[in-house]
Amino acid sequence: MTTPTALNQDELKALVGQAALHYVVPGDIVGVGTGSTVNKFIDALASMKDQIRGAVSSSVASTERLKALGIPVFDANDVESLAVYIDGADEIDGHGYMIKGGGAALTREKIVAAMATRFVCIADESKRVQALGRFPVPVEVIPMAAQHIARRFAGLGGSAVLRMREEQPVVTDNGQYLLDVSGLVIQDPLAFESEVNQWPGVVTVGVFAHQKATVCLLGTAQGVVTLAY
Ligand code: 5RP
Repeated sequence: MTTPTALNQDELKALVGQAALHYVVPGDIVGVGTGSTVNKFIDALASMKDQIRGAVSSSVASTERLKALGIPVFDANDVESLAVYIDGADEIDGHGYMIKGGGAALTREKIVAAMATRFVCIADESKRVQALGRFPVPVEVIPMAAQHIARRFAGLGGSAVLRMREEQPVVTDNGQYLLDVSGLVIQDPLAFESEVNQWPGVVTVGVFAHQKATVCLLGTAQGVVTLAY
């Protein structure tokens, strides 16, 4: 374990991004997530681009960053499986269950995670929680179902708002809308994910319990702590 002195959040993200290189299998294709922490990983991955075949990416933004660094990006349909998927999280609990989707990429993230044997979560320690739910749960929805689904969350005690940017609904890479749901107490993430996933109009719920992390590289004041689940 390295022992940095008073690193800020950005530096902690860079630390875990670099540490994640240890999990990249030479000669392989690596699954790559989305977000500011993953951007640090992508930048670090450039240093070993000649040792890997390339990446499967979970967003247009990550694809552009990978390609700009000369890392080939494969279509997920052309890849059978991945040894490892590396991505950040908005929250991670003591079981490796996560909330994801703050960067709007949750659907593709879940797909690439499902292709991988191992999910390595990279996060600074602010993301570690006792129980999921303080961070509003992102849910990708078919636009015509947004208000119906918002009412269903109200029935669970949650409050769902349509994610907006510049007074327009945010449109995902898949052409859909996002709800951010606050006020939920997620006592059973596996059951919650299964339940919400089968509501008509839900594309993906941003609870990753069925696709949980197998390892978390947590950036802390004491350095990178490796948590295995
Ligand atoms: C994107 C995600 C990200 O992994 C999550 O939002 C964390 O992002 P960051 O590393 O920027 O804090 O799920 O959809």
